Amino acid sequence: MSTKNILLLAGDGIGPEVMGEVKKILALIETKGLLSFQIDEDLVGGCAYDAHGVAISDAAVDKAREADAVLLGAVGGPKWDGVPYEHRPEAGLLRLRKDLELFANLRPAICYPALADSSALKRELVDGLDIVIVRELTGGVYFGEPKEITDLPNGQKRAVDTQVYETYEIERIAKVAFELARVRGNRVTSAEKRNVMKSGLLWNQVVTATHKSGGYEDVKLDHMLADALGMQLVRAPKQFDVIVTDNLFGDILSDVASMLTGSLGMLPSASLGAEDSAGRRKALYEPVHGSAPDIAGKGVANPLAMIASLAMALKYSLGKPDLADLLDQAISAALADGYRTGDIWSEGFRKVGTSEMGEAVLKHFQSLIAE
Ligand code: IPM
Ligand code: MG
Repeated sequence: MSTKNILLLAGDGIGPEVMGEVKKILALIETKGLLSFQIDEDLVGGCAYDAHGVAISDAAVDKAREADAVLLGAVGGPKWDGVPYEHRPEAGLLRLRKDLELFANLRPAICYPALADSSALKRELVDGLDIVIVRELTGGVYFGEPKEITDLPNGQKRAVDTQVYETYEIERIAKVAFELARVRGNRVTSAEKRNVMKSGLLWNQVVTATHKSGGYEDVKLDHMLADALGMQLVRAPKQFDVIVTDNLFGDILSDVASMLTGSLGMLPSASLGAEDSAGRRKALYEPVHGSAPDIAGKGVANPLAMIASLAMALKYSLGKPDLADLLDQAISAALADGYRTGDIWSEGFRKVGTSEMGEAVLKHFQSLIAE
């Protein structure tokens, strides 16, 4: 049995709590002899700043580069509001994405049947929802230069962020979306703002050209302006299958999509690099939710997005798609049993904390493995 090299970066806030539940699942997988792990842990975010004065150390980035999969909890919190901009906790996460060239961010939004009533939308609009947002993650306004605030002669200030995309960046993310659509509903909706942005115009042209010349014409492709897509996401979300969009629109639209599923605490994500000649890709898995400083340390955070992120790692990096399915089924089963953390709780259900929810998933996972 091959040994998989895993790096855990629990981070700040609720990160360590939700990561704790993932550790239990990794231990079970190993005990059952399904995989063996070489697990290392390091710091990212505010905790890294406290320890090293930077949001992630070079050594941690090097470990991430070597890992088969990196699992990350969350970064940030009010404690670090005053630290220099380049050392803010988020900078650690952004550096990891950029240095490892994790350009493809997959954010599935699945509405578990048991949670259809927790969504802010009517049950019939979200019941059975299964969409994926494919967000470009290493370009656009997040990284474009110049990015600065300068002083003007009149005493005012001027802030600039730069939205920039080159053909190859759009092409490679479009390909990820088309390939993914093929193993799902075979439909891609591409979102940009070509009506006001040059980068939107190029995005639209390159996605269209890649669809044609890349041999993806079996996949149905639509284009939608990003604002209209935001509206359609809350009007009729089930019309979508795969949505492909840039870094900033993807950030916003995935938060919107998360509420369709009942809670931000439910969304996992995978950030993937290009495949190397051996078919291996660098990869980071993290919940879409943040560090939730308001509930950190209380043992009440929802660990399901973190656990579902491990499921994505099993599928995309650890060569165990069947185990990934079982883990997803275990999450579903724990919800069907009525277990609810505070963020998804409603009258008549069993309110539990982080570890009780984790144990419920673990118990189902264990019996599903045994079958
Ligand atoms: C996300 C987060 C990050 C982002 C922050 C923490 C930098 O909101 O992963 O969606 O904006 O990409
Ligand atoms: Mg976000």
